[in-house]
Amino acid sequence: MPDEIPRVPIALRVNGKRYALEVEPRLLLVDFLRRELRLTGTHVGCDTTYCGACTVLLNGVSVKSCTALAVQADQSEVLTVEGLEQDGRLHPLQQAFADHHGLQCGYCTPGMLLSAYQLLAKSPNPSEAEMRKGIAGNTCRCTGYQNIFKAIRAAAAQMRGR
Ligand code: FES
Ligand code: FES
Repeated sequence: MPDEIPRVPIALRVNGKRYALEVEPRLLLVDFLRRELRLTGTHVGCDTTYCGACTVLLNGVSVKSCTALAVQADQSEVLTVEGLEQDGRLHPLQQAFADHHGLQCGYCTPGMLLSAYQLLAKSPNPSEAEMRKGIAGNTCRCTGYQNIFKAIRAAAAQMRGR
């Protein structure tokens, strides 16, 4: 029987909630979120840093959690799609994706939302070029992207008007 890999302690906040537990050093961040915390909104599409379905924010910066280790999130703040709604109300981006048909199968949507969230945090009124660059790491096989751009534009306008 192979030797057990020693687990290491990590402490972090995920969607505002504190966690302190022990993980294998080789555990991927996406598996930590999905398996240990049961936050299955973060998807795995390719496992090779290509599709962006696994995108989360680590200290406000988007990372592909299929190629980050859980231990790299130690002492950090992670935001997943589950953390976007507040008090039972969808985030304006989530609402706009629904209103403007920014999704079909929805597989890419959690990652797309997090990339769009990061984009609007930096550019509240993004140009078309900024939107394209902002979601460049996220692949959508269904929508052709136009409705995603419409949704981001609508959410941005709503957030600026708050
Ligand atoms: S699953 Fe991480 S980039 Fe595709
Ligand atoms: S909605 Fe299906 S991959 Fe984007």
